Amino acid sequence: MTQPEAVPAVQFGADFYQNPLAYFARMREERPVTRALMPNGDRAWLVTRYADVRAALADPRLHKDWASKMTSPDWVPDEVTGYLSVHLLNADPPDHTRLRKLVAKAFTARRVAGLRPRIEAITSALLDGIEARAVAGEATIDLIEAFAFPLPVTVICELLGIPLRDQDQFRAWSNAVVASEGEPGSFRAAGVAMFHYFTGLIAAKRKALADGTGPGDDMVSALIVARGAHEGGDSGDSLDERELVAMLFLLLIAGHETTTNLIASGALALLTNPGELARLRTQPGLLPGAVDELLRFVNPLNHATERFTLEPVEIGGVTIPAREWVLCATASANHDAGRFPEADRLDVGRDAGGHVAFGHGIHFCLGAPLARLEGEVAFGALLSRFPSLSLAADPSSLRWRPSSLIHGLETLPVRLR
Ligand code: HEM
Repeated sequence: MTQPEAVPAVQFGADFYQNPLAYFARMREERPVTRALMPNGDRAWLVTRYADVRAALADPRLHKDWASKMTSPDWVPDEVTGYLSVHLLNADPPDHTRLRKLVAKAFTARRVAGLRPRIEAITSALLDGIEARAVAGEATIDLIEAFAFPLPVTVICELLGIPLRDQDQFRAWSNAVVASEGEPGSFRAAGVAMFHYFTGLIAAKRKALADGTGPGDDMVSALIVARGAHEGGDSGDSLDERELVAMLFLLLIAGHETTTNLIASGALALLTNPGELARLRTQPGLLPGAVDELLRFVNPLNHATERFTLEPVEIGGVTIPAREWVLCATASANHDAGRFPEADRLDVGRDAGGHVAFGHGIHFCLGAPLARLEGEVAFGALLSRFPSLSLAADPSSLRWRPSSLIHGLETLPVRLR
């Protein structure tokens, strides 16, 4: 058994954001379970090989509920942090089981399949807008601003019952919340703004319910009804006020950040692999499988969210001491040649089953069926509407966002004709 290393082998910073897979390849080879230094100065353990990542994600000794299990006498969460943090991605059973059950029904593959016509309509309207801009003479268009961002944000806002006119606001808040670097205090300021936004929205929907003008056919209204059951003492199948606000916060952020990057980075991967792009164009039946291959290949998230140990836990032959943070590098696992032959090659006909871009274990992505459907509709429509789509920048000049968690482009300039 190896002793823990004293010195962090990975430092998340500008080089890492630009090419995380190069770092991960080195780690898988040299130090598959190693210490890393986070941009905020925190230390964590980084797990990079497929088998270790998968085992760690399913290991109940790796906990998520830091707000109640990692407390120390000198740390008292402020009201906003306390409110926004109590969501299912920060919960362990039994709270996790209860919270997930409240929203799981809305995200099953069957329920989500019913959203296809609406997703297709949103997609086609956005592509009409892009085409009109091209016809009006715009030579290049940022595919993120025009398509990859508005599609998932529109879908999640409609599902939740959040006014779409506020989408630019969310984009700014959400960017600040997931960024690893930025103005000091911008994370907290965005958290406070989102907290006030959601408490206002909940109050308005409650009023509509009380006036008899609600509930709307949306998830915020449904959760408010579930919250009412809690007030009535039915706490086994409901949620408290803090959990309600945190649930909306999580669903809104998780519902668009990642899918935007699946669409944008996926488009980049296809445009830089013309053979695979041509294959997909001539064999559209490959599309559903190709979405999973694109997820495996581009990885909208570099790693799963933090877990922590409460006792020493051995991973890949290394003993991680108690009270340490652990990051499972899902992007690295998906490029582990021990699991996916020629892992660094995009192959839209490959069986990418078993990839961990959506995580693994009890926190496996709740929105996976929705993300897959959005990806399928988005790529299908984009490729058929714009047969001459091409990159309008040298791929090496593209900038990636400064986040250790999210792997996403700042912009993606494309030409349509
Ligand atoms: C391509 C798009 C997406 C990717 C790559 C992705 C990835 C992930 C991953 C890796 C996890 C597990 C994190 C962990 O274990 O630390 C996760 C969890 C989650 N995702 Fe997604 N996600 C995507 C889209 C969505 C969408 C559209 C929603 C819709 C609301 C969503 C909602 C969630 C939720 C609520 C969780 C927490 C589940 C739990 O803790 O039980 N995600 N996602």
